Amino acid sequence: MHAPTHSTSGLSPDPVLLAVDGGIATLTLNRPDKLNALDYATIDRLMARLDAIEVDDAIRVVILTGAGERAFSAGGDIREFSGSVARGANAAVRDFVRRGQAVTARIEAFPKPVIVAVNGLAFGGGCEITEAAPLALASDRALFAKPEILLGMPPTFGGTQRLARLAGRKKALALLLTGTRFTADQALALGLVNAVVPHDTLIPAARELAGLIARQSPLAVAAILAAVTRGLNMGIAEGLLAESEQFARLVPSHDLAEGLAAWRERREPVFAGR
Ligand code: COA
Repeated sequence: MHAPTHSTSGLSPDPVLLAVDGGIATLTLNRPDKLNALDYATIDRLMARLDAIEVDDAIRVVILTGAGERAFSAGGDIREFSGSVARGANAAVRDFVRRGQAVTARIEAFPKPVIVAVNGLAFGGGCEITEAAPLALASDRALFAKPEILLGMPPTFGGTQRLARLAGRKKALALLLTGTRFTADQALALGLVNAVVPHDTLIPAARELAGLIARQSPLAVAAILAAVTRGLNMGIAEGLLAESEQFARLVPSHDLAEGLAAWRERREPVFAGR
């Protein structure tokens, strides 16, 4: 496994670590002293990591987690974005809101599945990343909150939009309007995570799920991700059109021919991603 811990300069810690093993990339938010708060450099690094992963055919699935014992992420870096707020609405939207919305939208629409492994606190932006991800597992030590209201502001990384779509308007608003913390089991009940697992088994469980997906055709995986996620934000007629378009794109592919042939020949398919 390749796991660099520092940026290429070797001087400052890399805010988002990358390790690749068996077609699975693990990204680790790496500011444990700051509870992995998302400063601009961390968000930019995460975007750059995703750009590189997107075009790396050897990587089929991404796991995103947090360094240290306490947090997945305590959200947007309050000290840093306070500076943007002090510079006025234009600077605050440009530097803070657009950046946060861009990274959650990127995770939501990423053509390879992103599994968030919530290893601790997921407050604010940490919760919003979990909302945006197509799949998520939580440690039984995970703790969630939408605490922006306590700062006198609404969430800004998609947090007013996705949780209400995911869990329903009233359940989302009760959390958004109070900032109340909620447990991993409550997150499971809301549909925010797929499962809650004992803390020490979080990464193995994420790797097991990732492995089940990594063996599939990456074309079919991307088609399903696109059809489901785009379809959720459309009417059913447009969603069905998206589904048929995704299927039509796969019709001339090696992977579909191989999948069908393997079924006829009663053998395991070997998908090539083309
Ligand atoms: N932005 C910037 N720094 C943050 C941060 C954030 N969102 N969350 C935590 N940190 C920093 C703290 O400032 C502290 O750094 P310091 O030691 O240099 O002061 C370090 O991380 C540890 O956090 P601390 O507050 O000391 O831990 P705690 O156990 O007392 O409290 C929290 C944990 C999560 C309750 C508290 O850190 C918190 O309220 N964080 C902000 C959560 C939030 O509102 N997020 C949404 C932002 S839009």
